[in-house]
Amino acid sequence: MIVKPGKFITVEGGEGVGKTTNMAFIQSWLERQGIDHIKTREPGGTPLAEDIRELLLSPRDEAVNENTELLLMFAARAQHLAEVIVPALERGQWVLCDRFTDATYAYQGGGRGVAMEKIALLENLVQEQLRPDLTLILDAPVAQGLERASKRSQPDRFEQEKLDFFEQVRECYLSRAKKIPMQYRIVDASQSLAQVQLDLGEQLNQFMEASCNE
Ligand code: TMP
Repeated sequence: MIVKPGKFITVEGGEGVGKTTNMAFIQSWLERQGIDHIKTREPGGTPLAEDIRELLLSPRDEAVNENTELLLMFAARAQHLAEVIVPALERGQWVLCDRFTDATYAYQGGGRGVAMEKIALLENLVQEQLRPDLTLILDAPVAQGLERASKRSQPDRFEQEKLDFFEQVRECYLSRAKKIPMQYRIVDASQSLAQVQLDLGEQLNQFMEASCNE
């Protein structure tokens, strides 16, 4: 896998933290800077990976084995990387991705209790050395996020999980951010939307400045 010169930005967070609205804000920030980029998401981002997303998110009666879920996440990711992310980065485009492997650590590792070593093994296999350059974590108290998310239509298979699952998800995002401060920026998503976007803009400006000085 040969990469870059483009930059790889991922956006993460639990349920109801305003990811969709803020992804749109980040995309408009990139447009204002005149940065050639693509916006994509996980699981998904290619026709095959979107089919896998459907398999993963649809509620079903059959219990989903945790390894099955984990492997499907990485199967979708392998396809997405090969078809979309790596070619874009190699062309010099920036990639803005709604969730990536941090979500696997948080949801499958934190939420489901899958061993982090197992996830790291698949991460290395599927991504080789590729890691995001910047990961923006939208963070809010779980109860607040779930309250917001409950106003949406039918909950998917993950949204049906209980408070404790999402507490583990949040905990895992925050502990990863603490361990690798270079890559992560935590944005307090419990603030007003205007303040969240001011904070996001500041983080992006800092990242842009640092990228220009590389
Ligand atoms: P969302 O992007 O609309 O929030 O839906 C994707 C769901 O998939 C979300 O509940 C988080 C979950 N997910 C995982 O469990 N592991 C992963 O690796 C990714 C990318 C998403």
